[in-house]
Parts: sequence; C-alpha cells; structure tokens
Amino acid sequence: MERTVGVAVSGLGEISKLHIQGILGSKHGKLVGVFSHSLERAKEIAKMYGVKAYSSYEELCKDNDVDAVIIASRDEDHLPQTIEAAKSGKHVLVEKPPALTVPDVELMAKTCKENNVICMPVHNYIYTPQIMRLKDIITRGNLGKPLYAFASVFHKISEENARKYHGTLITQAYHLVYSLLFLFNDVEYVAGYLDNVSYKEHKNIDDLAIAILKFKNGVVGHILSGWCCDDLTPTSWTWMVKVFFEKGVFTFNSMESLTYSQSASYYQSRTIDFQESFFNIVSYFIDETIVNKRPPLSTMEDAIRTFRILESIKSHKINVVKI
Ligand SMILES: NC(=O)c1ccc[n+]([C@@H]2O[C@H](COP(=O)([O-])OP(=O)(O)OC[C@H]3O[C@@H](n4cnc5c(N)ncnc54)[C@H](OP(=O)(O)O)[C@@H]3O)[C@@H](O)[C@H]2O)c1
Repeated sequence: MERTVGVAVSGLGEISKLHIQGILGSKHGKLVGVFSHSLERAKEIAKMYGVKAYSSYEELCKDNDVDAVIIASRDEDHLPQTIEAAKSGKHVLVEKPPALTVPDVELMAKTCKENNVICMPVHNYIYTPQIMRLKDIITRGNLGKPLYAFASVFHKISEENARKYHGTLITQAYHLVYSLLFLFNDVEYVAGYLDNVSYKEHKNIDDLAIAILKFKNGVVGHILSGWCCDDLTPTSWTWMVKVFFEKGVFTFNSMESLTYSQSASYYQSRTIDFQESFFNIVSYFIDETIVNKRPPLSTMEDAIRTFRILESIKSHKINVVKI
C-alpha cells in the first residue's frame, strides 16, 4: 500500500503558498491542516483546500493525522515551533533562517535528534535544476578544477520588510553561503563587509553584504547580497552564479525565465526556478527523506555551518585605509 505522509503548514504568509503547492505535487504528501496566528486566515486557507484550521499550534502538534510540519512562519517563531513539533514526534521542514543565532539552531538540531525526527532547513536554492547541474559538473570534473565562484542576490525590499527579515546578511546571503557550501564543502577563512547604503529610516539594517569565502579545496568564493534596488536588466544580478573552472565558466541568472508584473508578488513572479526549488525541496522532504529514508540534501549541520560563516562575516572588521 502507498504510504501517505500527513503534512501541516504553520505560518500562512506569502511563502506558504509555494510550500502548499509542493505538498500537493509530492508523491506521498497530503495536506491535512494549517495554522496561523490569525484564525480567520487559517480558516480561509483551510476552506480553499478542504483541510483543518487549527486554533492553536498545540492543537496542530497533537493531531495524530500530522506526520510532518512545514514551518513557514516568521523568523522568530521557527525555534519554538520546531521544538514543540519535535517533542510531539513530528518531522520538520523549517524555513530559513532556522533561528537567529548558532546556539538556537544547535538546540533545534539536538532536540530533533533526541526525539528521533527529521529536521530539514529550507535550503531551497540547492534544489534548483541549475545548482544540481553545477554540482554534477563539479563532481564529474568535466570542466577541470573550480577556481573562483561569484554568487549574488540583489533586489529591492521595503525597509519595513527588511526589518521583519533581519537584514540582507541573514536573509539573502544565507542562501548564497549554503549554496556555495553545497558546491565546495568546507571553508577555511572568511572576510566580510556589511553596510547600510540606501535605507533611511532603519539605519541599523544591513542592506548590502559582501564577503569572500576561501574554501579548503582552494576555491575563492565571492558573495554579494543587496536590497537597494531591483535589477531587471538582461544581465540581472537578482540571482546570479558564475563558477570559473580550469576549462571554462558556468553561469546562470534568474532573468531567463522571468515574468514580471507590478501586481504579482515577488515570489510568484521572479523566476520559475525559484518556485520549482520549493516543489523539489518539499517533495524531497516527504518522498525521499521521510518515506524512502534517504539522507536530506540539506541538513541542520549545514544550517549551523552557514550560520557560523554569517556570524564571522558580521564580526569581521576590515582595515579601512582613508585615502
Ligand atoms: N526560502 C526562501 O527562499 C524564502 C523566501 C521568502 C521567505 N522565507 C522565509 O519564510 C518565512 C515566512 O516568510 P513570508 O515571506 O511568508 O513572510 P510574510 O508573508 O511576511 O509572512 C510572515 C508571517 O507573518 C504572518 N502574516 C502574514 N500575513 C499576515 C497578515 N496579513 N497579518 C498578520 N500576520 C501575517 C504569518 O504568520 P502567521 O500565519 O502564523 O500569523 C506569516 O508566516 C520567513 O522566515 C522568511 O525568512 C524564505
């Protein structure tokens, strides 16, 4: 008999829409219920899919029909919701950043391990077809040794949203760091620079982050994330990766499949592969990791390594020479 994995979604903001589509598109997953701090919104979404609307997160965790929870709530809710789900025996797919500090991410990983549940961070960019293909090229050595990699994510976000998401380093550079870790493994040292170049009201929010990551395999990684403006040019840096090998360069950016309209939300309109990254990670979590017992492609250990690098970037003081 085909196994069914009952999945509930917590946090019904913009990104939850892609997770719900991911569950519906997976082989074994079944959406069984939704939770939001707004019961009204939960009821509205629950009605749309014919599932339960929980009136509390505790009720979600007590539901025997729930095998796994996708935590797509605000950054601050990830830690307590993951701990409660793990203690209730539910597997967890938790949005990034999993928490706001390294010790908190370690606590989440430890609690999930102790309760024998899988906890996967949403490292969705490594589930895009391009990153998968790039990993394959690196592993096969078709283009020789990788030497230098550049990765950027650049788009406008309002100051209010930037505050909610805790700055471009933890929000956007996070994706770049785990993607480069996936491609090149361990980092030897890090140099970083954070600045506020465009926001006027919230001067304490970083809207530009630049870092160099020297990998143990010799690759020099260079990352850039920024929230200053949208880049809708054909050579867009909205999401761009370039890897220089001994025998050639691999490059892609997010404009190839871009459809843009003023009314569509950023998540729905930016690029088809962004959406696909969610469909792929949710299917992998349910069908491969929970049902087929394959190890996750993105682990909490990866999240901890990513976070350590972000903290190093933050604490790194560059020597500024005034000219
Ligand atoms: N992996 C990625 O590429 C990616 C991309 C974007 C965001 N994220 C992460 O996903 C998480 C959720 O982000 P999001 O983009 O979905 O944020 P969002 O739309 O701003 O929603 C954030 C949270 O605020 C609450 N909320 C949403 N609409 C609301 C409203 N009208 N009134 C009151 N509360 C409302 C929801 O929680 P409740 O329903 O519980 O109230 C929701 O989970 C964040 O941790 C973010 O960092 C990841």
